[in-house]
Amino acid sequence: MNYKPVIDFIRSLYPSRNFIPLHEPYFGGNEKKYVLDCIDSTYVSSVGKYVDLFEKMIQEFTGVKRAVATVNGTAALHIALLLAGVKPGDLVITQPLTFIATCNAISYCGADPVFVDIDRDTLGMSPEALEQWLSENVVIEGIEGREGLDGLASSTQLSQPVALYKWAKRPISACIPMHTFGHPCRIDRIIEICDRYHIPVVEDSAESIGSYYEGQHTGTFGKLGILSFNGNKTITTGGGGMVLTNDEELGKLAKHITTTAKKPHPWLFEHDMTGYNYRLPNINAAIGCAQMEMLPEMIRSKRDLAQRYQDYFLDLPEIEYITEPSNSISNYWLNCILLPDEQARNRFLQETNDQKVMTRPAWILMNQLKMFETALCGGLVTSMNIVARLVNIPSSIM
Ligand SMILES: Cc1ncc(COP(=O)(O)O)c(C=O)c1O
Repeated sequence: MNYKPVIDFIRSLYPSRNFIPLHEPYFGGNEKKYVLDCIDSTYVSSVGKYVDLFEKMIQEFTGVKRAVATVNGTAALHIALLLAGVKPGDLVITQPLTFIATCNAISYCGADPVFVDIDRDTLGMSPEALEQWLSENVVIEGIEGREGLDGLASSTQLSQPVALYKWAKRPISACIPMHTFGHPCRIDRIIEICDRYHIPVVEDSAESIGSYYEGQHTGTFGKLGILSFNGNKTITTGGGGMVLTNDEELGKLAKHITTTAKKPHPWLFEHDMTGYNYRLPNINAAIGCAQMEMLPEMIRSKRDLAQRYQDYFLDLPEIEYITEPSNSISNYWLNCILLPDEQARNRFLQETNDQKVMTRPAWILMNQLKMFETALCGGLVTSMNIVARLVNIPSSIM
């Protein structure tokens, strides 16, 4: 197939551009005003009104009870896993098609990932693959003293039902589905399965602000969820993240542990557990507040772009455009197409990038990276098929 018409079409969406990036930030609102306000006030760092305001705006937008700002999405994931109860030596189930941060956060906890396959339509964790792996590999046993963070007074010593990888008796202490490229996965089924196995769900919704599954915002279904505000995301704070939870106690703990676990006091520095300096600076939160003011308009614009791609690719049977899954509203963070095979994908990547239209393949599957090549896996047929053919195409606001 000749890809020139596709390149011309993408160019027509961004007519004033020579180089067309994959996803660039959009600063069309109060960003400069709020940043200047931070500088004028001297509150540029870990204290200031914009952090609280940004958290509140995220709470209102997503409907979650508590949102806690962090320095980036990876830090938010690390904290979410600690709060879910992940401990060294545990196993955490996730999908192989994800960004490295998902697995890095598992490693930071001293745990190891288990990879189960994705669904063809959502590109996120397949509930059927999850159920199959659990039914073949897991027993549930009562274990004492598993709940809560180590060293926390509220840790219970009561016997808790824990899912164990039955061949090595290793606890499976969390499951992290990811809403890939902004498309919601079948999160309700995943939670229903994990509930049966007593496995807390931590949603990696780094890519899916403004995406909804059956009317509910992604990242608000599991015990905890996270968002990322990296420069390539739908909205950005330069760098930033957010922990989401509907559990007020966990929310309080998330704030405490991400702010060095300092007990509130006007001058004393007393810390009551191992805390992290994962605070989002006020100056970054200020940008976030300005971005949040524009988010509904930005999502509308991204969905308009997605509709134009969808209409265009309808007439090109050789290229499949991936649309939002049923029962979902997607933010279409990164638009995705599927080429017929790996060879066609590679040629498409080469020709588009040669023509200064930035496109890129999906991430290398996590189980193929050297850190995880001995990780436990279910069958990964769909992941392998998709990763060989998928290309992300320019997705900035037009
Ligand atoms: C799926 C996924 N998880 C986690 C992250 C981590 O976010 P950050 O880059 O803000 O650390 C990202 C994005 O970068 C991501 O795409």
